[in-house]
Amino acid sequence: MQAQQLLAALASGEAVSGAQLADRTGVTRAAIWKQVEALRARGVPVEARGAAGYRLPWPVQLLDAARIRAALPRSCASRLGALEVHWELDSTSSELQRRLAEAADLSVVLAETQTAGRGRRGRTWLSPPGLNLYLSCIKRFDRGFAALSGLSLAVGTMVLRAIDSLGIEGAGLKWPNDVLAAGGKLAGVLVELSGEYQGPCAAVIGVGLNLRLTEALRTQAGQPACDLATLAGEPPDRNLVAARLIAALAEGLREFERHGFAPFADDYARHDLLAGRRLKLSGAQGHVEGTGEGVDARGALQVRLPDGQLRSVDSADVTVRRA
Ligand code: BTN
Repeated sequence: MQAQQLLAALASGEAVSGAQLADRTGVTRAAIWKQVEALRARGVPVEARGAAGYRLPWPVQLLDAARIRAALPRSCASRLGALEVHWELDSTSSELQRRLAEAADLSVVLAETQTAGRGRRGRTWLSPPGLNLYLSCIKRFDRGFAALSGLSLAVGTMVLRAIDSLGIEGAGLKWPNDVLAAGGKLAGVLVELSGEYQGPCAAVIGVGLNLRLTEALRTQAGQPACDLATLAGEPPDRNLVAARLIAALAEGLREFERHGFAPFADDYARHDLLAGRRLKLSGAQGHVEGTGEGVDARGALQVRLPDGQLRSVDSADVTVRRA
């Protein structure tokens, strides 16, 4: 028995005894115990309930490519390249990078768990199975990097549109593309470009969206985090969330390809959590303090400095100063 099968056996949230699990899978109870430990080590809080057996604190819907496809608008399903669900990958973005030469446009790869999930600026993205979403998508462009300014902000807006389509409110954007809610990170976006400055190029777009965080995960994250469960009471079905995210990306990326960042600017401004806030920025340009004044047409952060000048910032770590 693998950890994947054990998670499937416990998915309903009902307790299942070690003996039942052993019977169903034809392995020893010791082997079951080993996989319980393996799931726990990956961050899944499997509870032991004495004679009742093992259970998860909540039901889990395992990712299923057919269910995701069925929940997509037809126009979107027909435009996708591959739609793959893997149990485990090092990173969905690394997987698409390895297949960059041959992967069809708008191919989407999801994994239940990542062993080397990557965040921006070399950070790790913790990726336990069964709880959150880890998804990457490849989008090809003809007109080179030069036409892609604002792409990563636009993708943040697409993630917000997906969340919005689920009737979940309260999320906003922290430049360039962190999706935050209740003061914590709800989703992270990693956009990696390759190709030519003025010719064909490709973006591998990775999105990690928190549906259900455990206490251990919040502690390990090392920064405040939020999940859809907190915002919605009960998180929506994971396959439905995946479908909404894929649909928002497919639709939004087509819009971006045609018109660039412009159609996203209003949405971005409406959800801009840095506008009017006192900010501290650190990056290649050194340390700067000032007040957020939105983003320009390329997606650069506009910061009003104490001397009244407006500074355009392309890349920096931003923190909001306490008032
Ligand atoms: C960030 O640091 O905010 C970006 C996090 C991006 C995480 C996602 S999870 C799916 C894809 N695969 C990865 O390894 N990273 C991205």
